[in-house]
Amino acid sequence: MQVLDIHSHFFPKQWEDLQARFGGDDWPWLKHNGDGTAMVMKGNSPFRPIYQACWDPDTRLAEMDRDGLCGQILSATPVLFGYDRPAAQAEYLAKLFNDAAMEICAQGKGRLFAMAQVPLQDIDAACAEASRAKAIGHVGVQIGSHVNGRGMDDTATLTFLQHCADEEIPVFVHPWDMIGADRTANYMMGWTVGMPAETQLSIVSLILGGGFDRLSPKLKIAFAHGGGSFVFLLGRLDNAWHHRDIARGRSEHPPSHYLDRFYLDSAVFDDGALRLLVDKMGDQRVMFGTDYPFPLGEQTMGALIRNTEGLGEQSKRRLFVDNAREFFNLR
Ligand code: CO
Repeated sequence: MQVLDIHSHFFPKQWEDLQARFGGDDWPWLKHNGDGTAMVMKGNSPFRPIYQACWDPDTRLAEMDRDGLCGQILSATPVLFGYDRPAAQAEYLAKLFNDAAMEICAQGKGRLFAMAQVPLQDIDAACAEASRAKAIGHVGVQIGSHVNGRGMDDTATLTFLQHCADEEIPVFVHPWDMIGADRTANYMMGWTVGMPAETQLSIVSLILGGGFDRLSPKLKIAFAHGGGSFVFLLGRLDNAWHHRDIARGRSEHPPSHYLDRFYLDSAVFDDGALRLLVDKMGDQRVMFGTDYPFPLGEQTMGALIRNTEGLGEQSKRRLFVDNAREFFNLR
């Protein structure tokens, strides 16, 4: 069975000194250890340990072969977005890392694809970069779950999403700069608690902000990590919508009405959670995603879907490859 991973990340092996170019603090850079590992740095602070699969296509392809993957879609890590910087700087970062992604894909023997980043704090620039990225071969764009506190119900963000719908550019929403950061600083709770909440918040904001009522049904949009806590708490959300008018926002229908307007990846790390995901969303709305090659990603890629009992072969094929080919227009 063909297996295509839509949620993986890359870092270029090196890039220019951004502090030297722009000044200021906390720019991302890689501190290489000389043994195929590196530390992602933000200024002088360690951010995340990584290894050469991030930048070396041969390592990535060998590990894809080990786990039976035919293809992988790469995207930047949100630490490279620069949403909190002046828009011109974020635009520079987007071009820099989008071009770098295409260089990695060019060495991928036709098995690697990429989603672009955009300077989402400037909608005109974001639309222009999304279109440029599509023209040079990107199969979609990845955006953060909010931009400087403006969520998925933000008018400018909706304008960007409509642009993507018009230009047939698929959108993948990744959590970043998570809510409750002051309460989740310890024990990696920003990733284990903050990220699922952040992703749920982005989906709920889009629904209750009336986004799906306003946006073209042509829009293809997917959310990371199985939608975070969204699916498990959908009943609570619907109940609130029906029984408190202030919980309805601008949505014309209860939240569960919109499940056929978006996709979720399968990165939930538990067979019961995956069954719930498929039960609620349908097997045509979930796509295989790993978060490779990070420590919090699926370490044996594809194992969760392969080993989940109660999912038929046709459903597994849809999750592993059919839905992604449709979503990203890959043939
Ligand atoms: Co990720």
